[in-house]
Amino acid sequence: MRILVTGGAGYIGSHTCLQLLKAGHEIIVFDNLLNGKEEALLRVRDLAGCSFPFYADDLRDREAVERVFREHDIEAVIHFAGSKAVGESVRLPLDYYFNNVYGTLVLCDTMKRAGVQKMVFSSSATVYGMPSRCPIDETFPLTALNPYGRSKLMIEDILRDLSQSDPKWSIALLRYFNPIGAHRSGLIGEDPSGPPNNLLPCVTQVAVGKLPCLAVYGNDYPTPDGTAIRDYLHVEDLAAGHLKAVAKLSSLYGVEAYNLGTGRGWSVLEVVRAFEKATGRRVPYEIRDRRPGDAPIVFADPGKAERELGWTATRGLEEMCQDAWRWQSRNPNGYEVAVTAGAERLSS
Ligand code: NAD
Ligand code: UD1
Repeated sequence: MRILVTGGAGYIGSHTCLQLLKAGHEIIVFDNLLNGKEEALLRVRDLAGCSFPFYADDLRDREAVERVFREHDIEAVIHFAGSKAVGESVRLPLDYYFNNVYGTLVLCDTMKRAGVQKMVFSSSATVYGMPSRCPIDETFPLTALNPYGRSKLMIEDILRDLSQSDPKWSIALLRYFNPIGAHRSGLIGEDPSGPPNNLLPCVTQVAVGKLPCLAVYGNDYPTPDGTAIRDYLHVEDLAAGHLKAVAKLSSLYGVEAYNLGTGRGWSVLEVVRAFEKATGRRVPYEIRDRRPGDAPIVFADPGKAERELGWTATRGLEEMCQDAWRWQSRNPNGYEVAVTAGAERLSS
């Protein structure tokens, strides 16, 4: 299939692009490099052994989006592009609505005009808000706790309205739980711009010596060791879920939501211990206050994805930690490479 990948230079997008290429799909990547890196795409190209068009453009630039659809006979879109930092979304809500919601509106409108009606959208477990129990299935009530989460909910609603208006739309909403890890090669991985917010990038940055100590947010939750529990899944498993979702689009009518998680929860301290065991590195930590807005326990019921997409997560926590560490230790400064005159570019 010929697939437009928005946000393909980012963490999950780059891993998915590589799997798409390896499976024989044609891809066109569209990313404004707000948080993604062109170097990630160069490495994807080298790992896959084949190149692809890259547009270093912004989804809010209608002319740029239209140009891609004019220049390529696109059959489906995987839509990763967006901003994702919860704290930042509280400080800059308009930026989040403008980037995530307006960017998606421009994309959908252009798709409609071009007659492209197949989409896989990056939603998030954040749409379940503060779940009253676990595991969480797709019928749980949806709510938002912050502007980032609200932007995801708004987009889900927009996509549902769109499919109501025209039954030819085929849209998979993938609600990710907590992706971690990196490609086995250690060549692509998560490279947050600025200080990391998520647990694993903080753990790896402590292990590599960039941060002095891990802050563990709360040890008074109603869990066996008092720290909060999440459903961590390997980014390679998550990327594989996108290939399954793309395959499903030809028989999917309307909108369907799928949880992508393992169905198993791990506490913060269990993750720290698993990381230390898998890598032989020590991760000093100190207990801090709870982080506002954090739920005590979040893990998925991934049964619908298994039944309807034929997808399950296969990699365990140890492998996730080993792969995250291989990436971080080989690339202590992420994708940062010497910028020299005539440095290699993919974008035209
Ligand atoms: P990421 O920041 O690494 O990737 C997002 C990419 O989108 C970046 O490369 C960025 O440059 C690009 N982008 C942002 N705004 C754009 C715009 N206006 N036009 C073009 N490109 C733009 O994030 P990720 O972790 O790979 O997440 C991908 C998607 O999955 C996001 O929508 C995110 O909200 C969602 N998600 C991520 C997680 C997670 O834990 N990583 C969890 C749930 C959902
Ligand atoms: C967070 C976001 C969620 C978003 C997801 C992916 C919040 C409240 N939720 O999920 O909306 O979709 O990231 O971007 O921000 N932790 C520590 N120390 C740290 C970092 C994290 O103890 O330095 C703990 C957290 O308190 C949490 C767990 O580790 O219990 C996982 O945190 P994180 O990786 O940020 O993911 P979520 O909070 O699940």
